[in-house]
Amino acid sequence: MRALRGTGRGAEKLLKRSACLVFFFEDEGLRCTNYLTGTTVASTPVLVAVLNFFDRWRKSKEIKLLLGSYSASSVRSTVRQLMDHTLLIEKGSAQAKREEGMAAWNAWEVEARFFHFATKHAFRLGAPLPDEIEFARTLLRKGPQPELVKGYHSSKHIPLPSYAPSLNSEFPRVLLGRRTFRQFGRGRLSLEHLSVLLWLTWGVTGRLRWPGLGKLLLKTSPSGGARHPIEVYCWALRVADLPNGVYHYQGDGHYLERLRNGVQATRVVELCARQEWVHDCAALFVMTGVFPRVMWRYGFSRAYRTVLLEAGHFCQTFCLTGTWLGLAPFCTAALVDPEIEADLQLDGANESVLYAAGVGVKHPTASAN
Ligand SMILES: Cc1cc2nc3c(=O)[nH]c(=O)nc-3n(C[C@H](O)[C@H](O)[C@H](O)COP(=O)(O)O)c2cc1C
Repeated sequence: MRALRGTGRGAEKLLKRSACLVFFFEDEGLRCTNYLTGTTVASTPVLVAVLNFFDRWRKSKEIKLLLGSYSASSVRSTVRQLMDHTLLIEKGSAQAKREEGMAAWNAWEVEARFFHFATKHAFRLGAPLPDEIEFARTLLRKGPQPELVKGYHSSKHIPLPSYAPSLNSEFPRVLLGRRTFRQFGRGRLSLEHLSVLLWLTWGVTGRLRWPGLGKLLLKTSPSGGARHPIEVYCWALRVADLPNGVYHYQGDGHYLERLRNGVQATRVVELCARQEWVHDCAALFVMTGVFPRVMWRYGFSRAYRTVLLEAGHFCQTFCLTGTWLGLAPFCTAALVDPEIEADLQLDGANESVLYAAGVGVKHPTASAN
């Protein structure tokens, strides 16, 4: 291996263990996963010792200090495998640079980093999408569906008053009218509707004086400590008077910033993990989290949850606004985060994809779901 042989000019490569490793036991034994690259391998105590040895940049040959009793070729092969599996990284490599870019995540404990990065690999491209009925049959063969409603059957039940009269107003009608749409009409979303969707969901609607920090932002959704880590990007496919493209919404000034011209619907389908029905929507809105905004104030992993929870707040607000406007809204978590992040030129560490919502004009005959 070149790393061990050196270049003949004494420039032997420097290696260190990845900072993104988690060890755990599964049925087969000890496993090691690199949560950044998504690689999981069977592990042994010797491999743990080797990785422990590379706790700082070391010349690969130094491993002989630890594994003196092993043959040179087996040591070389072990080091090569650890590099191939991304457990050992080389100074200056793309992986080393990517890990350097994750420094902000040290504000939170390992569980937040592990969950966030490990679940980025959840949608494996190449695997065929399951036929829903066949998939349901497979699940039912494994066991019955868990109860969908919880009830304390032996407890006293207190009937609640009839609520019918108060439902005859716009707010409950919008709440009750919200559904997920997957078929859309051929028309274009008006720029006015796009504007209202953006402003009521992600726009800055006020300021809050925060002790010691001056004025923070207020939006229609709440945000832990008013940190507002959520950003939104719009893939405009069928919007009247707006060229197809990818835009960032600047929620304070209420304007779009064009990042890319001429986006294709087929690309949006790919980004949504090949959900074909997304093809006919008018616009897709991808929400990202800017984690350092939250990490700066809350230095513990539980704060990671707040970012996910907030994406849910924004998404529901979006869907309700779309319903109120008579449009066909939807939301999707089936996203190929790394591809979206590449398209947006985000590093995926300081700012990362969380969730998406979208909208189309209503189909003249098709209903929701
Ligand atoms: C977090 C979350 C993720 C979802 N992801 C998807 C998705 O990837 N694809 C999809 O077709 N629907 C997705 N949905 C929509 C649900 O399938 C839908 O809400 C459900 O069928 C109930 O229908 P309703 O929204 O009309 O009440 C998602 C919903 C939520 C809350």
